[in-house]
Amino acid sequence: MQKRVLGNSGLEVSALGLGCMGLSHAYGQPPDKADGIALIRAAFERGVTFFDTAEVYGPFTNEELLGEALQPIRDQVIIATKFGFREGDASKGVDSRPENIRAVAEASLKRLRTDRIDLFYQHRVDPAVPMEEVAGTVRELIAEGKVKHFGLSEAGVDSIRRAHAVQPVTALQSEYSLWWREPETEILPLLEELGIGFVPFSPLGRGFLTGAMDANTAFDANDFRNGLPRFSEENRRANAGLLEVIGTLADAKGVSRAQIALAWLLARKPWIVPIPGTTKRHRLDENIGAMAITLDAQDMAGITAALDAITVVGERYPAQLQRTTGR
Ligand SMILES: NC(=O)c1ccc[n+]([C@@H]2O[C@H](COP(=O)([O-])OP(=O)(O)OC[C@H]3O[C@@H](n4cnc5c(N)ncnc54)[C@H](OP(=O)(O)O)[C@@H]3O)[C@@H](O)[C@H]2O)c1
Repeated sequence: MQKRVLGNSGLEVSALGLGCMGLSHAYGQPPDKADGIALIRAAFERGVTFFDTAEVYGPFTNEELLGEALQPIRDQVIIATKFGFREGDASKGVDSRPENIRAVAEASLKRLRTDRIDLFYQHRVDPAVPMEEVAGTVRELIAEGKVKHFGLSEAGVDSIRRAHAVQPVTALQSEYSLWWREPETEILPLLEELGIGFVPFSPLGRGFLTGAMDANTAFDANDFRNGLPRFSEENRRANAGLLEVIGTLADAKGVSRAQIALAWLLARKPWIVPIPGTTKRHRLDENIGAMAITLDAQDMAGITAALDAITVVGERYPAQLQRTTGR
């Protein structure tokens, strides 16, 4: 497995990480615990060393799952988790008061069965707490050895600069994929300037970019995608043209659509580390296989031109959640 370094920090991780959210949360009925543990360990056996979770996934159960799965191999992996919601519940709003950051760190350490969090992200910017205070609190946790690296998620340019001035930011984790390229305008140039790594979440467009679903796909009643405008039946139908572009390139190269989506991200910058999520072993192998695909300058230019000609329809989040991004 190839390795990548996140930003100037020297944090070395596998070039693809594993997004673990779906093993407990968000996309319908999750697998049982034994299968979740087996999937995480299978990823490690295949060379994945970068595992992504958050206190809100579950809530709490996803960190517990990682804690159990990774305990025997703790020193060989990098664990990233996140703080910043009230009582670990995203629906209750953000909370990055220093006392909450500290409480989450202690609770996450216990659930993860470890003595340090390798990468601790603020999940969403909290407008009520100055970024200097947030970064200062994480800086203290780093000095105490409880946290190794500081990260932000879905933060805007100003927040990133302010945080980085107090405690260098190792990685930004925000959505970035073939159907959400907004980070290209301001965020990627800023990260390059400051030497911050980038961890695209939902790199497969929560499954849409793989072609495994279409407008007729029915999600489980408790699937988070039911509430996302981009996943309405109408918008899935409207965005089918994007799948044609991905499918044409994938077929020409004899690879899968998921592999094109991941290979494109990997080809964008050497400091980008996507974290696709899956609950299935064969898809884990397929996604890891994306690393063997080379998209040359001509491929990349062709994809960019094709994407530029397509308007993706539907917001990423409902209004209340959308407001918490880009601050
Ligand atoms: N910071 C944030 O605010 C934030 C937000 C969202 C996600 N995240 C993180 O990012 C990680 C990844 O994002 P994500 O899980 O939302 O979306 P994703 O990785 O874009 O897509 C996951 C979905 O795609 C399906 N899938 C995976 N590989 C596939 C393949 N090869 N072919 C067909 N379908 C495939 C999965 O279903 P199966 O399980 O059935 O394979 C799952 O439904 C999460 O696990 C989480 O750690 C962070």
